[in-house]
Amino acid sequence: MASTPFDLKGKRVYVAGHRGMVGSALVRRLASEGVELLTVPRAEMDLRNQAAVFDWFAKNRPQAVFFAAAKVGGIVANNTLRAEFIYDNLVQATTVIHAAHMSGAEKLMFLGSSCIYPKLAPQPLREDSMLTGPLEITNEPYAIAKIAGIKMAEAYRSQYGSDFISVMPTNLYGPGDNYHPEYSHVVAALIRRFHEAKVTGAANVVVWGTGTPRREFLYVDDLADACVHLMKTYSSDELVNIGTGEDISIAEFARVVADAVGYTGTISYDHSKPDGTPRKLLDVSRLAQLGWRASTSLKDGIRRAYQAYLREHMQAAE
Ligand SMILES: NC(=O)c1ccc[n+]([C@@H]2O[C@H](COP(=O)([O-])OP(=O)(O)OC[C@H]3O[C@@H](n4cnc5c(N)ncnc54)[C@H](OP(=O)(O)O)[C@@H]3O)[C@@H](O)[C@H]2O)c1
Repeated sequence: MASTPFDLKGKRVYVAGHRGMVGSALVRRLASEGVELLTVPRAEMDLRNQAAVFDWFAKNRPQAVFFAAAKVGGIVANNTLRAEFIYDNLVQATTVIHAAHMSGAEKLMFLGSSCIYPKLAPQPLREDSMLTGPLEITNEPYAIAKIAGIKMAEAYRSQYGSDFISVMPTNLYGPGDNYHPEYSHVVAALIRRFHEAKVTGAANVVVWGTGTPRREFLYVDDLADACVHLMKTYSSDELVNIGTGEDISIAEFARVVADAVGYTGTISYDHSKPDGTPRKLLDVSRLAQLGWRASTSLKDGIRRAYQAYLREHMQAAE
């Protein structure tokens, strides 16, 4: 078991999924922690390949692991690629967590997600609501794999005394997001659609649903900061929610995105499309007690996310 507080300075720290939205934010955040950063491109080590992963961990012996790799996507991807979502995420979880244990990693952080709480759990969502009811059917394969990862971290802590912790981030946005037209999350989808409408001079943008559901959004660099804070100061088998603790209606949020993008046309709502759950908000009181609060306002975060989108978009076009 690692000591608490756990000093990252000088440690070999592996970020799994370092090219992803969360992983790249962790890499940015860790730059000021004086760590020896370890990363491996997927082409060299597919995290589903148990032999390759065991071998790499045995050779490199990371002392701390941020497990930010996963097959991730919006509702369409989760619901249509159901086999891939359960297989990829289950195998990665079992492989990486076991490799960390075998190679003697002192600490590991597993990233769960707010979307794996039961569909009808009371809002705001508390950590102890996990596994208290049926899951949202559209992302059940992903949720089952993620819950297995959390339960593995818990089991390794209880049987071997491993200092493995799990966190539950809310909806994230920021640099490195996935802007795929079908497979993206809501923030990236709105940034892309408002940007395209601005460029083409479209007079109206249609947003799915009624605009009334309320959601919580966290800037990914804030998430990385919270992860580093918890890695250094937290050691328990209890989950920790990571969010802002504030929600906003989709209609209000769409306006924030449109303003940040500079889209001046109208926004209408397609009531024939599903709204999903009326409210999704994390209870962040445990995180607040542990001494962390989000610092990036939604307006600032969306503005920075849009700047990143423009950079990434231009790079892709070159
Ligand atoms: N995005 C959100 O809103 C959100 C919310 C809550 C929780 N989370 C959690 O945060 C974590 C990271 O999510 P993200 O949004 O950063 O996702 P992302 O941008 O799609 O990044 C995922 C990363 O995992 C890597 N990866 C996936 N499959 C792999 C494999 N078989 N072998 C090696 N690497 C693999 C990807 O590699 P390539 O770059 O090669 O594709 C990528 O670097 C996930 O655990 C997710 O559940 C995300």
